Amino acid sequence: MTPSQPHQPTLSELTGLTPLSATTTCRDPQAAYSELRAKWGQVAPVELEPGINAWLVLGHPEICQIVRNERLFSRNPHYWRLYAEQVVSPDSGLGPMMFPRDNAYFSDGDKHRRLREPLDDGLAGLDEHKMSRMIRAACTELIATFAPRGTADLVTEYAAVVPMLAVAGMFGLSTDLGHQLRQALIALFGSGADSQAGNQNLERILTNTIQARRADPSDDLATAFLRHPNLRNDFELQQSMVLMISAGYETTTTWIAQTLRLMLTDPRFAGRLRGGRLGIDEALDEVLWRDPPMSNMPARYALADCQVAGQPVRRGDALILGFAAANADSRVHTNDPWLEVGNRAHLAWSAGPHACPAQRQGRMITRIAVDTALHRLQDVVLSVPAEDITLLPSPWTRCPASLPVRFTRTGPIPHA
Ligand code: HEM
Repeated sequence: MTPSQPHQPTLSELTGLTPLSATTTCRDPQAAYSELRAKWGQVAPVELEPGINAWLVLGHPEICQIVRNERLFSRNPHYWRLYAEQVVSPDSGLGPMMFPRDNAYFSDGDKHRRLREPLDDGLAGLDEHKMSRMIRAACTELIATFAPRGTADLVTEYAAVVPMLAVAGMFGLSTDLGHQLRQALIALFGSGADSQAGNQNLERILTNTIQARRADPSDDLATAFLRHPNLRNDFELQQSMVLMISAGYETTTTWIAQTLRLMLTDPRFAGRLRGGRLGIDEALDEVLWRDPPMSNMPARYALADCQVAGQPVRRGDALILGFAAANADSRVHTNDPWLEVGNRAHLAWSAGPHACPAQRQGRMITRIAVDTALHRLQDVVLSVPAEDITLLPSPWTRCPASLPVRFTRTGPIPHA
């Protein structure tokens, strides 16, 4: 990266740009990314919403350089010029993903290290056997609610519920509280009329949990956070809990839903998986490569003028990390399945200091959810044509809105 050249239009001067959501809502995202690459190179200007432009980073090495260079690219949205100058409306749909909150996710440097350590330490201290039993029980319980019907929506009734019950369980919360937590988060991040109520419910559940663990410690994440010297007060503790709960929710839901979608719509994928030629972890990795849960990830903010892949990035510009595009970068990935065995250089977890701390746990939740569904739902098939599966509207993810299925009966519960 070199100092910027004169005479190139700035990001905000560019008009008629491709909306970022065009890359997630179209049938063939890689075709959309290729078009952007052909026109702009590895860093393309896109429109986040009318009048709000950002750079979309498409190249694998370019993303790695950015996320590993905190001195030049901050995670803190206070450095985003359009946010600081209040060009972005306070009720913009970008808010839930891009507006700052006081936690590790939106911090850099020493503050990030201090707030990140409790997350890493807490996760490392979890009993994985206990966790896997808890997740399997949650999956089995959910399947039992729709099994008698012989039909289900595997997104709304399963993929979108399992992660919250699992993450709530990591904090030692009951299934019932896990459901309440999910409703609270949906209301809070939906920014509708019930957003305030959602926030209050979330705070009530978390405050009660903190008080309960203070009186009666356990071996869960809430207790680990309470004991951690880096978290200085209940506010930081609560923010760390909200971060874990919200960061783990949509990502894991999308991973489960995408894997189930591929099984139900791509006979070659399903055949390889059911026929034993593709192990479940390889299947999950294939999804992380082909359709990473975060297709486009917000964001890093330039702290100085610079050039990235020839584009004139100005101080305060936002850079979106195009993980799905970067995963198809021919510099790191071939189309030969034999050469790709064991290749985990994808960016689904990002890289650098903010890389996902819960890779083991996210994989465990997804593996158990997919495995339980595979074993329990016998002869499961989609009950609508594959082309009718729509995606939830989002510039960040490509999560199926629903997966209506029918099955003949339920099989035995797989071993934990
Ligand atoms: C299972 C699928 C998951 C995927 C694909 C995923 C992906 C990611 C990615 C890409 C980031 C990095 C963002 C960046 O560089 O800006 C991230 C950060 C994070 N993830 Fe995950 N995640 C998953 C599950 C989870 C779960 C289950 C949890 C919690 C239980 C979690 C907690 C977090 C946290 C706390 C961060 C912020 C870390 C920091 O800023 O230092 N994730 N995740």
